[in-house]
Amino acid sequence: MSKTVIGIIGCGNISDAYFLGAARSNLIRVKACADLRLEAAQAKAAKHGVLAMPVQQLLADPEISIVVNLTVPMTHAGVSQQILNAGKHAYSEKPLAAKFTDGAGLMELSRTRNLRVGCAPDTFLGASHQACRRLIDSGAIGIPVGGSAVVMSHGMESWHPNPEFFFKPGGGPILDVGPYYITQLVNLLGPVRRAVGLGTIGNATRTVTSEPLKGSTINVEVLTTVNGVLEFVNGANISLSASWDVWKHNRASPIEIYGTEGSLLGVDPNFFGNIPRVCKPNGDWQDVAIAAHPFGIANRELRNGTMQADYRIVGLIDMAMAIRHSRPHRAGGDLALHVLEVLEALEASSRSGQFISIRSRCERPEPVPLGSDESVFA
Ligand SMILES: NC(=O)c1ccc[n+]([C@@H]2O[C@H](COP(=O)([O-])OP(=O)(O)OC[C@H]3O[C@@H](n4cnc5c(N)ncnc54)[C@H](O)[C@@H]3O)[C@@H](O)[C@H]2O)c1
Repeated sequence: MSKTVIGIIGCGNISDAYFLGAARSNLIRVKACADLRLEAAQAKAAKHGVLAMPVQQLLADPEISIVVNLTVPMTHAGVSQQILNAGKHAYSEKPLAAKFTDGAGLMELSRTRNLRVGCAPDTFLGASHQACRRLIDSGAIGIPVGGSAVVMSHGMESWHPNPEFFFKPGGGPILDVGPYYITQLVNLLGPVRRAVGLGTIGNATRTVTSEPLKGSTINVEVLTTVNGVLEFVNGANISLSASWDVWKHNRASPIEIYGTEGSLLGVDPNFFGNIPRVCKPNGDWQDVAIAAHPFGIANRELRNGTMQADYRIVGLIDMAMAIRHSRPHRAGGDLALHVLEVLEALEASSRSGQFISIRSRCERPEPVPLGSDESVFA
């Protein structure tokens, strides 16, 4: 089978994960990359053995059928629109857009042009998250009733080389890391009916402590601590705590789901692997087996030296194969748009003091078949 040819726009921090993921694949190939900063594109092109091109040249390349948008959140919608207008399918990093209305416009354009939109996160396709989905679908914890999602740290200015975008519209813990949690919750439970939240800004400015911008300050324009509750269409309600104002905490479990017949301890939806746990009424925790699912084996060393499973790009590979076989892809624009509406609602609720009804609906993506690698999509 010939490989689907990909272009990448945005050659910053996360792009290596995509170049490396594509290099591991037998189904896709990156031909070229582009960036507003030509030197950034040239550096990644040299490192990964692809071509560096100006954005317009990449968009005009007839061999490229899908373009990956790895620019910053404020430009996601604009760059993805350019991609669709060039007649290519678009796959974007999260969030789909900095604003729901822009994301909705993008999805409308994709329908008009009969082109696909895909969007990160694709971590929910990972072994541990799919194992949790299988467990819930099999009725192992009965009917999901409640739960919690927790993502808290002291923010991004200590490690990212250019962290300003994290504190501008489209960033903040809600729009930056919230997509991992809400996407996995929708994968497990289906769409959200309404949301309520309270948020605040812990520090009006942030001082960068990472190189090369060490010592510079960032004016914070987004909520940095948000506590909310989501009511799902299936009736479950889940609390969400998302903060970049927390030095240390003791809420170790990123996602917990409580059902009528048991409880499920999910794992960090920022990664693909790790072992979830489940318990039956009055029983002890049992490890959930994940080995029969693809994308669970640790393959990346983190800054703290631990190993994690990180298969970012498999959502794009699924989309490439879905286009070939005329089936829906899993990390889809409609899912990302719904997630964006939920996240925006938490912030809007904090301003208004009201519950916010969620208008968009999406299907739960099909589970990933059991297997060991990307061939499950082929
Ligand atoms: N860094 C991470 O660990 C990480 C992890 C997961 C997801 N993401 C997401 O990936 C995206 C990129 O993050 P990053 O950390 O790589 O950011 P970054 O700032 O390191 O890189 C972004 C790149 O996009 C380029 N760019 C900006 N606007 C552009 C435009 N209009 N046209 C062409 N190029 C443009 C910039 O010049 C820069 O090189 C963000 O949406 C972020 O949320 C990042």
